[in-house]
Amino acid sequence: MNLEDMTLSFISEHMPFFFEYWPFIITGIVCLLAAVVLFKTALETPGDECLPPEQDMFDELNELDEMDEDESEKNQEDESVVPALPVDLKHIPFEFSRMSHEESVKKSKEFLDMMSKRRTVRFFSTDPVPVEILKNIIMTAGTSPSGAHTEPWTYVLVSNPEIKQKIRDIVENEERINYERRMGDVWVTDLKPLKTDWEKEYLTTAPYLILVFKQLYSFKENGMKKMHYYNEMSVAIAAGILLTAIHYAGLVSLTSTPLNCGPAIRVLLERPQNEKLTLLLPVGYPADDATVPDLSRKPIEEILVEI
Ligand SMILES: Cc1cc2nc3c(=O)[nH]c(=O)nc-3n(C[C@H](O)[C@H](O)[C@H](O)COP(=O)(O)O)c2cc1C
Repeated sequence: MNLEDMTLSFISEHMPFFFEYWPFIITGIVCLLAAVVLFKTALETPGDECLPPEQDMFDELNELDEMDEDESEKNQEDESVVPALPVDLKHIPFEFSRMSHEESVKKSKEFLDMMSKRRTVRFFSTDPVPVEILKNIIMTAGTSPSGAHTEPWTYVLVSNPEIKQKIRDIVENEERINYERRMGDVWVTDLKPLKTDWEKEYLTTAPYLILVFKQLYSFKENGMKKMHYYNEMSVAIAAGILLTAIHYAGLVSLTSTPLNCGPAIRVLLERPQNEKLTLLLPVGYPADDATVPDLSRKPIEEILVEI
């Protein structure tokens, strides 16, 4: 008996099941391996090259959140040794004068009426605006609350026509791609009633552009990194106060979140790497023939849940 016969007889004697069904068993193993390889490849393959912008933005935010968490962990030890605010920070009496309920009702109603007139304006006049007004507006935004009083914001005020043109070029280049390739039919269709497109003339006609940067972190006096907790939320609240202050000062603006333009604009404006562009607001007076979409606001029953 040769070696081959001996092997076969050994298998048939000791592994009768395998001997009878080996073609099926081998096929099964090969299929299983192929399925595992295919599954792993599918998980690792990046999706569509042109992700929808929401996805880009989502990824970007996730990335930052992750970064915040990592950085936060790294800084735990450092934070416990040297707090960002002085340990013996003085606490002072709070200045407050209580209004009557009638006065409060009146003021809240007046404020509601005033804020109801705030609109996003897309057509600007080139009329100049004293810079002092813009500084007061930005200081008002600076009164916003912030996580652990980190004040994680930088406002870049641009009036230089050449820089405005460069910003417009960056935004229009990206917006053209956004509208033509990235945004998809649903988004573009949703925007049609607002009559927005990739052309952003207001970026050069408005006398000012305010660029709101959020600071992911900063540095303490001892050079250690200072974490900016909830920087996203803090800057969003400050932006609301900024828009309110612009409106209260008799000016108009357009809230915009220039998609995919952040890094190029940050470099153009020479802002450091710990800052991320969140909003771009042209500010000024409306053009004489400016129009706005005829929008209505949800009634209180739809936005308030009283318990
Ligand atoms: C986060 C955010 C991003 C926005 N981005 C844009 C934008 O890129 N372009 C634009 O024309 N309007 C933009 N808007 C303005 C909205 O379209 C506008 O607020 C909305 O249509 C309601 O109009 P109103 O502000 O006049 O009440 C944005 C608003 C917000 C809050």
